[in-house]
Amino acid sequence: MFDRGWNCFHDVLMNIDRASANAFQLVAVGANRLLRLLGEWQQGETSLHEELAAQLRILVRTGALPSGSRLPSERSLGTALGVSRNTVTKALDELRADGLLSSRQGDGTYVTVSRRPNASRGGDRLRSFLSEKMPDRIDLRSAALPGLPMVADEFNSVDSSRTRELVAGHGYIPAGLIELRHAIAGYYTDLGLPTTPEHILVTSGAQQALRLAAAVFVGPGSTVLVEEPTFRGAIESLRSLGATLVSVASGADGVDVDDLARKVAALSPALIVLQSTVHNPTGSVLDSFRRSRVASISVRHNVPVLDDATLADTIIDGERRPIPLAAGGDQIMTVGSVSKSFWGGLRVGWLRAHPDIVAELAAIKGGEDLGTSVLAQIVAAKLLGQIERARDERLTMLGERRRLALEAVAEHLPTWVPQVPLGGGSLWLRLPQPGATALVQRAERAGVRLLPGPTFSVDDRLDDFVRLSYANDPALTRLGIESIARTWNELGATDSA
Ligand SMILES: Cc1ncc(COP(=O)(O)O)c(C=O)c1O
Repeated sequence: MFDRGWNCFHDVLMNIDRASANAFQLVAVGANRLLRLLGEWQQGETSLHEELAAQLRILVRTGALPSGSRLPSERSLGTALGVSRNTVTKALDELRADGLLSSRQGDGTYVTVSRRPNASRGGDRLRSFLSEKMPDRIDLRSAALPGLPMVADEFNSVDSSRTRELVAGHGYIPAGLIELRHAIAGYYTDLGLPTTPEHILVTSGAQQALRLAAAVFVGPGSTVLVEEPTFRGAIESLRSLGATLVSVASGADGVDVDDLARKVAALSPALIVLQSTVHNPTGSVLDSFRRSRVASISVRHNVPVLDDATLADTIIDGERRPIPLAAGGDQIMTVGSVSKSFWGGLRVGWLRAHPDIVAELAAIKGGEDLGTSVLAQIVAAKLLGQIERARDERLTMLGERRRLALEAVAEHLPTWVPQVPLGGGSLWLRLPQPGATALVQRAERAGVRLLPGPTFSVDDRLDDFVRLSYANDPALTRLGIESIARTWNELGATDSA
């Protein structure tokens, strides 16, 4: 099952550079769903096929139509949209010329975001579309943080004798560099969860850890419980394994434990995937009572849990070092990373699991990528020794940016209800009524990008939510919020016209 293609739908890259996708998760998108996603695509400004093409490009670029999505046939799309098949063909031809779609004889049309947008006529059109409509883009989609200066310092002071020693060997270390495994074990032991290096598999980011761990328990048709909303990368990874995803409600207090208990009892899932400590997108942190309830549900029903705690070191409010959920038993695995605490560019993450699982996955990872970069691991090991300082720096920066973003929302979007995040770099906002997808499409035309709720939904719901990042420069975040408010008000005016 490991040679299946999968997309690295890492949150940082998501919707910014689909180019990293080198294989597709094949998902058919029905005509009705596409119709809903397209929203108000007819602006009456240019020809029908150009407007349809422009809106489809936005859907691909915002991730609403991820790589591998199979579009409905041209005939059925034309019927659903109430336009001629010829209009649809011309619109799709434009996206094919841009390298955003490809068609296979007898097998339909797929979203295929290529590594390098080709310099075709279509590519030129896309560029002129962007410069015309989005002179000044503000991107509030990615909650990825800039790296801490200490990352560069550590790179500059790498111990050369240790490097020479390592370079004298072959450098293929699938389970991870021993000093980093020790450092990660120490990180968990300090959090109150005794851990040895044998519990740790170093991975190329948390995203790889998620997929590798899930693949041990999940195959085609397996039922997996995931939070609604949840991190898009988890949805894509699980779908690429063929899992059937069933949503469990998740809100300001984290996963709804009663809903979880009901669904575990009713469905006997193969795996539960959740985020106990700083949830993406809601920013929630599970309290200790709910942690113990989740752990006992998993023990009682013998269901493994994959706890993605990638954002754990970005806590702003409350207990700064909660005891990991995995303290509740060996059946709970934890995903972690230095991406949010230090720098995503290191591409160092890990899985903490039972040593038997770690050994099994090390062999699989070896077959897949032969191991994570040793130089990045040397630096990550040194950095973990400064985790407390990194937590402080993240708290200071994120606390201030969150405050400013909440102020701007209260001022410009007073009817929107933010769920105040306890950590991380984004706001999860409830709109007074559904319409997030249409809003995001309009906002993009006005030069501001944010993510609609359905991005985080396994069932394509949550159209009354958006996620807005405050990880960027606060002045830009404020400008972005002001522009979104203008777009929202215009939409309201259109609706009531
Ligand atoms: C919840 C969650 N899990 C995993 C990841 C992937 O992290 P990494 O950069 O370590 O692969 C992200 C990145 O945004 C995330 O938000």
